Amino acid sequence: MEEVKKFYDIYNYPNLKLYTYRQKRNHKKLILKILSYINFSPKDLKNKDVLDFGCGTGDKSIFFAEYFANVTSIDFSKGQLSVLNKKIKENNIKNITVYQKDLIKDDLCFLKKYDIIFCIGVLHHTENPYLGFEKLTKLLKPNGIILIALYHRYSRIRFRIIRFFLKNLISKDFNKLYKWFFSSKKTFFLRKNVSKNTLYDRYIVPYESYHSLKEVKKWFFKNNIFFLKCSENVKGFEFFKIFEKKTLFFVSGIKK
Ligand SMILES: C[S@@+](CC[C@H](N)C(=O)[O-])C[C@H]1O[C@@H](n2cnc3c(N)ncnc32)[C@H](O)[C@@H]1O
Repeated sequence: MEEVKKFYDIYNYPNLKLYTYRQKRNHKKLILKILSYINFSPKDLKNKDVLDFGCGTGDKSIFFAEYFANVTSIDFSKGQLSVLNKKIKENNIKNITVYQKDLIKDDLCFLKKYDIIFCIGVLHHTENPYLGFEKLTKLLKPNGIILIALYHRYSRIRFRIIRFFLKNLISKDFNKLYKWFFSSKKTFFLRKNVSKNTLYDRYIVPYESYHSLKEVKKWFFKNNIFFLKCSENVKGFEFFKIFEKKTLFFVSGIKK
């Protein structure tokens, strides 16, 4: 997915600004929620071998490292990783190793095996999410845990309709689309409480696919991953996710 790589090279994500107490508190709250999907608290991360695949600018990797995990952070975007490397240098972090690799195209045999693998918001931007998942499961230690987050099949309907019109009426080129989107005051889109990052993630990222819990459970079964937990927004009858505000769903499993 060259287009996706080029996109993230320029438009870094999530690239959080964690300066104020409030920003740090909200970020911690988000990670605690994510860790709850693997039944972990931050202190359980100590000395664990953690892989953050598709780490982006690595804000989550840094949190895991602060709680003394040995973190490997991988992304295929040089732009994303240069932001992470800068943060690592500025904060003198010693327990993060960074690699630039493509989950789908590259051989990952050089990597060690991991206690925990996070792959959050990544697989649905690849050309073959199942292959990506399968490759990740090969990197788990016995009893290792994997947590993935994907866009739900019935989510983002409104964004998908708007994307369709934007791409067909404005431009398919994400740079042109970005310029159009943010150049004049598109007040309909630029509503309060929605950050610029969120907006380009919703409407401008070149490619995304959509999945269901049922499908993910099949992936787990095929790869001897025992289902552990999923996020609240995906439980029950999946078609009702059409009314859900949250667009990502999380599923964790343990290698048997
Ligand atoms: C939405 S961002 C998620 C970043 C991070 N996981 C997070 O939760 O904040 C998706 C990331 O996946 C990366 N990515 C997409 N396809 C990839 C691939 N085939 N191999 C490696 N990284 C990939 C992108 O470069 C981008 O940094």
